[in-house]
Amino acid sequence: MRICRVGLVGAGGVAQRHARVLAGFDDVDLIGVTDVVPDTAAALAAQHGAQAYADVAELLAAGPDAVYVCVPPFAHGPAEQAVIDAGLPMFVEKPVAVDLATAERIADEVTRRGLRTAVGHHWRYLSVLDEARGLLAGRSVRMVSGSWLDKVPPVAWWSRRDRSGGPVVEQAAHVLDLIRALVGEVTEVTAYGNGTPPPVDGADIDSVTTAVLRFADGAVGTLSAACVLGWKHRAGLEILADGLALSLTEEGLTICDADGERHVPADPEAARVAVDRAFVDAVRGVGDDVRVPYAEALGTQRLALAVADSARTGQTVRLATASGTALHSTGVTVDA
Ligand SMILES: NC(=O)c1ccc[n+]([C@@H]2O[C@H](COP(=O)([O-])OP(=O)(O)OC[C@H]3O[C@@H](n4cnc5c(N)ncnc54)[C@H](O)[C@@H]3O)[C@@H](O)[C@H]2O)c1
Repeated sequence: MRICRVGLVGAGGVAQRHARVLAGFDDVDLIGVTDVVPDTAAALAAQHGAQAYADVAELLAAGPDAVYVCVPPFAHGPAEQAVIDAGLPMFVEKPVAVDLATAERIADEVTRRGLRTAVGHHWRYLSVLDEARGLLAGRSVRMVSGSWLDKVPPVAWWSRRDRSGGPVVEQAAHVLDLIRALVGEVTEVTAYGNGTPPPVDGADIDSVTTAVLRFADGAVGTLSAACVLGWKHRAGLEILADGLALSLTEEGLTICDADGERHVPADPEAARVAVDRAFVDAVRGVGDDVRVPYAEALGTQRLALAVADSARTGQTVRLATASGTALHSTGVTVDA
């Protein structure tokens, strides 16, 4: 395949970003866009010389080589199923669903059909990740502390638990995904929410959440999410190993060790381009650098939902390890 013909499902904020990035690739043709709000699809399609379609079936009938699913968390499932039924590769925006059942069902179907997938955890493409990995190689991570301290984003669905999954699932998932990549799997989570929504009409999410995490290899950690500010204050993680402290955000990596402190900058925009580049290359059969296929994102979804479930129920949630049995797969596996 010389040119990859791409279709978009959803035409909101993140779809507009992908369309902009894809438009910069000379081996991509954005052929069509669909959205439950036809005007939104029409506007994005017009911007890129693409066709607006009434629904996913019409978009698929136009014959794309790959489909991006860029819908809010609650809307995942039907579009992915249609793309799977069509046997096409798909890029799915994070979080992959609002719940676990949908994500597990889609993951199973993707595996069964052997389809190429990618999920929008673009932090895995930050240029400083390899440096962080190199510094951690051969050392035991002792502690990690992740945070996403921000405002309420300006989309109506965000502050509703049944629509977004809440700030941990919707937003801090980027940080949890990086924690999994750098520190390993979490086996146990105890989380607390403050039970007070942010001052936004109809909001029912916690405005702050803090979780304590225990990792398979003995490390411990925390994850904090807040949406009580008027600005994005901090999103990132600190990792402590013996004689080493790493602080990683989308903007770069700060390294503290016996030699002192140094900062290595990163370019978040480059990571956002790289995640699309890797997917298109994989679809075209000219590359193999998809770092978060759907099955890998399922692990992050499990962890994020474990945090959210623990905060909601007030109980500890145990997650499976490769050899473990207490699988947090169909509901909350809890310990009073
Ligand atoms: N990876 C990232 O950096 C990143 C950045 C922003 C958003 N996101 C994720 O992308 C998702 C969407 O966020 P957004 O900011 O684009 O939201 P948005 O509200 O701006 O856009 C979502 C669009 O999807 C449409 N839609 C809803 N249900 C649909 C359906 N069933 N079929 C087709 N279209 C449907 C809506 O009409 C809307 O136009 C969220 O899960 C968010 O977390 C990821």
